Amino acid sequence: TWTMVNIVEEEIAKIQAQIGERGQAICGLSGGVDSAVAAAIVQRAIGDRLTCVYVDHGLMRQGETEQVERDFVAATGVDLVVVDAEKQFLDALAGVVDPEEKRKVIGREFIRTFEAAEAEILADAVAGDDGDKVAFLVQGTLYPDVVESGGGAGTSTIKSHHNVGGLPDDLEFELVEPLRTLFKDEVRLVGEQLGLPAEIVHRQPFPGPGLGIRIIGEVTRERLDILRQADAIAREELTRAGLDRDIWQMPVVLLADVRSVGVQGDGRTYGHPVVLRPVTSEDAMTADWARLPFDLLERISTRITNEVSEINRVTVDITSKPPGTIEWE
Ligand code: XMP
Repeated sequence: TWTMVNIVEEEIAKIQAQIGERGQAICGLSGGVDSAVAAAIVQRAIGDRLTCVYVDHGLMRQGETEQVERDFVAATGVDLVVVDAEKQFLDALAGVVDPEEKRKVIGREFIRTFEAAEAEILADAVAGDDGDKVAFLVQGTLYPDVVESGGGAGTSTIKSHHNVGGLPDDLEFELVEPLRTLFKDEVRLVGEQLGLPAEIVHRQPFPGPGLGIRIIGEVTRERLDILRQADAIAREELTRAGLDRDIWQMPVVLLADVRSVGVQGDGRTYGHPVVLRPVTSEDAMTADWARLPFDLLERISTRITNEVSEINRVTVDITSKPPGTIEWE
């Protein structure tokens, strides 16, 4: 629409004024819509003086990393650095079963990895340059986040909390927040306007810690692979049924420490259950379990148990929020 075109043009001009002729910007991509749209706008404003960083923590769903590496880059021409940190994250997660501990570990490794990449990128760009002691950090902050944090207009500067080697001590980071005036549905419109992949623009909410909090029990590569297969089937069938826009989210949860007896073909099986957690919601604060059509549930169940050999049971969570949360951890 016209309004979205205007918003994009205005934002581009503002960003150019803020970053100037020589400033360097960094943007972390999560695979979600906000960071993708924020990055795409800044890319339009300053081109290859923006570098995007995508930390592949190995906890993403099937196809998501490729969507960023291949489709997002193809659509935007963004300069992207992908950090393959799967082993680092899985090593750090070894033996961890407590949900909050998982979040802490994943959050800590994420910041570590992102800052190291940032330092490497900025070291060359900024250090040799006597004038510039400011680097720009792009964030996909939305209007509701701004209101919630009581923030008015203007820009914030973060002192070099970034205690990473290779960067000048007095380097400051200034935030660039091109989505500060927008609501989520407007961000999606802008994303469409900018020609971003539909899978990214219309992605349902997905938690930062990824599949790490959808494996009940220790997170291992084998378990992630099992969950990824089941999750891909469930998402494919939901999409095929045309229900993506009606369902807020449908986490698939692997009960990795639970086994139950089953029978398949000629033999007894002793596999794991998965839980489908389809919910409807307005804002994730409350949610209702979604009454998915039985034939859809049947297709998902049949396919998962046929195609994923480690899974022999599919269950559906029929708990509202409250008392249940959307995620199981
Ligand atoms: P719950 O499980 O609390 O989830 O009902 C509410 C919404 O938040 C998402 N979620 C997270 N997002 N980091 C995130 O970025 C997290 O640690 C996290 N935990 C839950 C969840 O997917 C749902 O949309």
